[in-house]
Amino acid sequence: MIPVHITGTAKYLPKTRLTNADLEKMIDTSDEWITTRTGIKERRIVANGEATSAMATHAVRKLLGKTKTQPEEIDLIILATVTPDMFFPASACLVQNRIGAKNAWGFDLSGACSGFLFALISGAQFIKSGRHKKVVIIGADTMSSIVDPEDRNTIILFGDGAGAVLLEPGIDENFGILDFEHRIDGSGGDLLMMPAGGSLSPPSHTTVDNREHYVKQNGRAVYKHAVKSMANYTKLLLDRNHISAEKLTLFIPHQANARIMEAVASRIGLTEKQVMVTIDKYGNNTAATLPIAMDEAVDENRIKHGDTMILTAFGAGFTGGGVLIRWNK
Ligand code: UT7
Repeated sequence: MIPVHITGTAKYLPKTRLTNADLEKMIDTSDEWITTRTGIKERRIVANGEATSAMATHAVRKLLGKTKTQPEEIDLIILATVTPDMFFPASACLVQNRIGAKNAWGFDLSGACSGFLFALISGAQFIKSGRHKKVVIIGADTMSSIVDPEDRNTIILFGDGAGAVLLEPGIDENFGILDFEHRIDGSGGDLLMMPAGGSLSPPSHTTVDNREHYVKQNGRAVYKHAVKSMANYTKLLLDRNHISAEKLTLFIPHQANARIMEAVASRIGLTEKQVMVTIDKYGNNTAATLPIAMDEAVDENRIKHGDTMILTAFGAGFTGGGVLIRWNK
């Protein structure tokens, strides 16, 4: 099997900031509650008319520039999102057209907060098999389009953003994407969902009046599952690959709540220094948190050639997983 290397990372975050002070004016909450319960100080929100494909396009254009890749060279584009511009056409097609990737195929992937990891491993198979040479994996979500501005349980958590990585064949099989473990568990589906707008409950005056086209979450239940699952995926990957916790250079968990990340890190025995945190600035961008955090880690020089890192996620579905990478640069 051909080794799969991540040869570039990029991100895009909209300019508008929604701070905790802004939220204090909109709903019954406080900066103190949000900071202590979630670690979030502000999030980014799209401009009017800006949506998932626009953010994804910005991220991919940066990625192509950084990696000196021509759009025509791209074989495959996978866009992980739960907030596509429209049900169809797929937002991957909108991105493909905007960047001029005229030789690519692609699709959207719905894996909620684990979507980027599911897309990463899906795309990696086409490199491994020798079929493709350049695969673009995107995580992008416009959560501001589906959170209820009157629901203090959810509005405080989510933000908008996009991140992208380029996958290419490598030579050394000790580098790149080394291992993964993914799962879905539909028994937790009703704990985090958007009830209306799909084929079960198509949009109507009633669904809108009942606010069923917004995210509904049982925060406490999801919290417990998130801690347990992300800790388990991470432990499994470390054990299976004979890596001790202290030897892991960087741990990038899905950015849903700072307390969840602390709890997971402490279960595995990781220090604060090993954990990548961006939630304070961007909130929870669903499929975008991991590629955004990875790009930030690269920019901040927190990951160097030969270092190991684990990305892990948990989200609606339930979906969850982890990926072990040895960085090559
Ligand atoms: O990315 C997908 C996966 N999602 C997650 O991983 C999210 C997991 N869940 C969480 O991060 C947390 O459960 C939340 C941040 C959503 C909530 O934190 P919590 O510590 O679990 O709070 P809670 O829901 O148990 O609520 C505690 C109290 C309640 O008041 P009472 O009933 O104790 O009087 C809430 O009504 O805090 C109240 N509350 C708020 N107060 C001020 C809930 N939201 C707010 C708010 N501001 N925004």
